[in-house]
Amino acid sequence: MRIGLLGVGTVGQAVARALIERRDVLSRAAGAGLVLQRAAVRDLSRPRPLSREQLTTDPVQVARADDVDLVIELMGGEEPARGLIAAALERGKPVVTANKRVLAWHGPQLEQLAASKGVELRYEAAVGGGIPLIAPLTDDLAANRVLELRAIINGTCNYVLTRMAQGETLETALGKAQEAGYAEADPRDDIDGVDAADKLCVLVRLAFNATCTPGQLHRQGIRGLDPRDLAYGRELGYVLKLLAIARRGPGLGVEARVHPAFLPADHPLARVDGAQNAVHVVGDLCGPVMFSGLGAGGDATASAVLADVVHVARRLALGDPVPPPRDSGPDAPLIPMSEVKTRCYFRLSVDDVPGVFAQVTKVLATHEIGLASVIQREPGKLGSAEVVLFTYAAPESALAAAEAELSKLPSTRAVLARIRVEASK
Ligand code: NAP
Ligand code: HSE
Repeated sequence: MRIGLLGVGTVGQAVARALIERRDVLSRAAGAGLVLQRAAVRDLSRPRPLSREQLTTDPVQVARADDVDLVIELMGGEEPARGLIAAALERGKPVVTANKRVLAWHGPQLEQLAASKGVELRYEAAVGGGIPLIAPLTDDLAANRVLELRAIINGTCNYVLTRMAQGETLETALGKAQEAGYAEADPRDDIDGVDAADKLCVLVRLAFNATCTPGQLHRQGIRGLDPRDLAYGRELGYVLKLLAIARRGPGLGVEARVHPAFLPADHPLARVDGAQNAVHVVGDLCGPVMFSGLGAGGDATASAVLADVVHVARRLALGDPVPPPRDSGPDAPLIPMSEVKTRCYFRLSVDDVPGVFAQVTKVLATHEIGLASVIQREPGKLGSAEVVLFTYAAPESALAAAEAELSKLPSTRAVLARIRVEASK
């Protein structure tokens, strides 16, 4: 099995090293000799674990090469990666990729193309780094109707939030995540929840058979979160995480969203720290199961990439046909975010005058939002008091309307934060 590698960066280097150093082990597992044939990069002058003759700056040459049997795409980004994956599939070459951006926007079309050519498109590394996740959702939970999925699927944000809880700034923590190789080429994709939304689309398709593209999801990242919110949450027994959430609604619909959320400190996801990822799935037969492990980093991700390579090679060595894409029935529609119900945390800066609290609770009552707990701090040097409210569940439309009204109260200086709370276990 001669392998063509598109991209020899953080993940590509780790894959190339393992293909060279673990060639015997991998070849035995695959039932065929695995050979790293050639690779494409942008900059030929940087050191790589391949000889100069194996490298090119023209990825098309690798994707189409006659002496390449399988293509691994690890360049990242939408184009030219999508076009190169399509070109390899068109030529009847199986493709392994970690590219959630391409899969989120073009996954179904590429899977159809792969099926029409009788080859596999595999992407275990695209979500959850080294955690086996795609295969379990596709095969091992197949008997279940998935009811709910809550996940920490961006290692960079989880690493940053973990360090912010220890007093570091977002900027310092992000710099460290970049140094460790966790962040995307453009780290705004991590911080703004773009990467998590891409991954959630992939998971929603597999778990709920709901076709969605990232543009349809509600998405909010961790930019602008204040360490004070993490501290207030801690006071009431909550931990703040960037969550990707999908859940079956009462009818046919599925809700899907990415945003920061407070979780009870004893929830299994609340204990997932640093670059770890975890996906908590509730199936109607299996009940709650959680997949967890290192969600980012070269070696962890290479582990998942190579699992796919071994899988493809073994199938080819045995002459097994590629199964048709699964037919899982009609698509489920996405529930509009305005209809999604959540509990909520508000932090307000208010004048320290009598009657303020009555005004605040009146606004909540007008929108039928129940109050679960309250923290009030005495005024600081600027003379404003800080009020923190945790509400019971209410529709997003009511919470947004209440936020707008709270911000207009004469005694409100600012609504400093509104963060959703995922209360159930
Ligand atoms: P990276 O470090 O930025 O590496 C990208 C590689 O692709 C580099 O070798 C780069 O060449 C090459 N490249 C980019 N554009 C090219 C072009 N037009 N022509 C030729 N070569 C090109 O990225 P990464 O972190 O390894 O991520 C790769 C993929 O894995 C992405 O889809 C990412 O989302 C995904 N992923 C990453 C992680 C992680 O922890 N890093 C985890 C899971 C999934 P140069 O080296 O010459 O610049
Ligand atoms: N930038 C991604 C993350 C890499 O931090 O999770 C893994 O997909």
